[in-house]
Amino acid sequence: MKQIARQARTESRVIGLVPTMGALHTGHASLIERARKDCSTVIASIFVNPAQFGPNEDFTKYPRTFESDKEKLEAAGVDYLFAPEAAEIYPKNFSTYASVEGLSERLEGKSRPGHFRGVATVVLKLFEIVQPNYAYFGRKDAQQVRIISKMVQDLNLDAEIVTCPIVREADGLALSSRNVYLNAEERKAAIVLHRALRAAKSELAAGVRDALELQRVLHRVLSAEKLVRVDYAEIVDAGAFEPLTRVSKACYVFLAAYVGKTRLIDNLFVEPREAGSDDLTVQL
Ligand code: PAJ
Repeated sequence: MKQIARQARTESRVIGLVPTMGALHTGHASLIERARKDCSTVIASIFVNPAQFGPNEDFTKYPRTFESDKEKLEAAGVDYLFAPEAAEIYPKNFSTYASVEGLSERLEGKSRPGHFRGVATVVLKLFEIVQPNYAYFGRKDAQQVRIISKMVQDLNLDAEIVTCPIVREADGLALSSRNVYLNAEERKAAIVLHRALRAAKSELAAGVRDALELQRVLHRVLSAEKLVRVDYAEIVDAGAFEPLTRVSKACYVFLAAYVGKTRLIDNLFVEPREAGSDDLTVQL
């Protein structure tokens, strides 16, 4: 992979990297589509990264659909697929990790200790191997993108991070490789995350700016669904990811909830239309 990427660089190609864990869906495809617009060489990676799964998480049962993933990547016009073995990425005696402190301990990081250290480490390794001009990530995992952007800034990495919108099913459920875990009943219940975010969006449109009031609305909508157990429903500023009491600057409304045994996340991005303005744009 290093050799191919080096060759592409000597040919002055613009290299785009799309890191994934496979089990590809149209959310992943949207990143590739965007990469194809910006770059002359698009590299996708598939690596189910053991370092980002906790001991009681779903590493062993994470969906692995390599053959159909390859077909999808080819159809999407990816130039190269990098699909290393775990032993190549983490050889025996591997002992160097990247941790983005502070940001990694909040929200997802609080519920999944060590998760973002695993993410940052593998992404740093992928960046070193490929040295992309651009790397593409989905806003579905907004905290992940923020942490990777912070790592790029802190470590003077060259990759430019591009954030792509959340791709949803027709009924609003955010696409996720983990949606395959849901049975029919849970699948129906899962749309409550989107419903809760939509409710928050209408409150914002009606002028509500108080974070506690918005949180109450989120919990009210989510608790109507018996199969759903909320992990967190938080409103945090878009920079440091600290809780906000009032929506007055760029922020996220973050949801994490179990639907049956499956943990799902979703978010809403809110920002003032202009600096200092109370008029907001909301991205669901
Ligand atoms: P994975 O969950 O496979 O996601 C790969 C990329 O696809 C991430 O950037 C994610 O945000 C994006 N994505 C997933 N669902 C999406 C959706 N519905 N709409 C838009 N984008 C979506 O995220 C990871 O893998 C890993 O943590 C990784 C970055 C590859 C490091 O191991």
